[in-house]
Amino acid sequence: MPESEFALWQRLIEDRTGLWLPENRKTFLLSKLVNRIRIKGMGSYGEYFASLMNSGEEAEWPTLVDLLTVHETRFFRDADAMKLVQDFAKDIIQNEIKQRKTARSDTVRELLAKREPLTNLIQVWSVGCSTGEEVYSLAMQLQTLSNANESPFYFGVTGTDISYPSLAIAKKGRFKRSRIQQIPANLRAQYFVSDDAEYSRISDEIKDRVCFVQGNLGELEQSPVQLYNIVYCQNVLIYFQPQRKKEILDQLVRRLTSGGLLVLAPGEAMNWKHDEMQKVPHPTCLAFKKCKSESNNLRSNYGRK
Ligand SMILES: C[S@@+](CC[C@H](N)C(=O)[O-])C[C@H]1O[C@@H](n2cnc3c(N)ncnc32)[C@H](O)[C@@H]1O
Repeated sequence: MPESEFALWQRLIEDRTGLWLPENRKTFLLSKLVNRIRIKGMGSYGEYFASLMNSGEEAEWPTLVDLLTVHETRFFRDADAMKLVQDFAKDIIQNEIKQRKTARSDTVRELLAKREPLTNLIQVWSVGCSTGEEVYSLAMQLQTLSNANESPFYFGVTGTDISYPSLAIAKKGRFKRSRIQQIPANLRAQYFVSDDAEYSRISDEIKDRVCFVQGNLGELEQSPVQLYNIVYCQNVLIYFQPQRKKEILDQLVRRLTSGGLLVLAPGEAMNWKHDEMQKVPHPTCLAFKKCKSESNNLRSNYGRK
């Protein structure tokens, strides 16, 4: 494939997904294209390119995107970042309990005494969640925290990804036994049930707290703003050019509550700075907190149900 034709493919893929395929990924691209061209019975890269522009071929685009994206993931992939999230969640809960305890209203105190759940307290977004391992890891941690808390709390973990096939696997919540070995033994025993000789499935208690939605990071600007206390975005931004990466990060900040936590993978956005974000001092994690401000608070409260 001549350079000029490769450039057309680079631009098409970046326009539609935000993903950038550098020169050293050309062989990778060609192998995926050849695969699709053969399956579709076409004769050239050009013919396949033209077919992707054709409005009758919408179904082909997600298939190609799935082939071009890397879906590698595992449970508790970054144990330190998971611990950071857990500590952050603990702080939110402790603050809420403190506020309720000092509340003057008898009704609030009565609710606390009855161990009524703290409502809608923590919303988490796993960005580029692949086959769901990250989402379930976050949910298992938060559920354990809720069970151990003097007052249980409601939380939700939303996973988004561009790849439909990955999301279909995620939604099933069914994993090969060898894959769940990375989960701490106590969580594995509590939240997984054996399905058959080879597979285990996540418990309904956890499944009820998660949801999976297809979404393209390249189109965040056009999508509605929903607020999250924690945005967990690891091993996705590496596939974007610096300017795109910055635009996506700015969009993630818009979706954080005041005081919310943004977790990235180490080295993923080393020099990124944002007026509203403060780097969390941590020896191994790359994370930022959104500064508390009056206008941020208003937005956060507005976002809560
Ligand atoms: C390497 S996996 C990372 C999975 C998980 N976050 C982790 O760290 O284990 C990257 C995921 O990002 C998704 N992705 C890539 N480009 C995307 C885009 N433009 N919008 C949404 N998701 C995207 C891929 O489909 C893939 O599942």
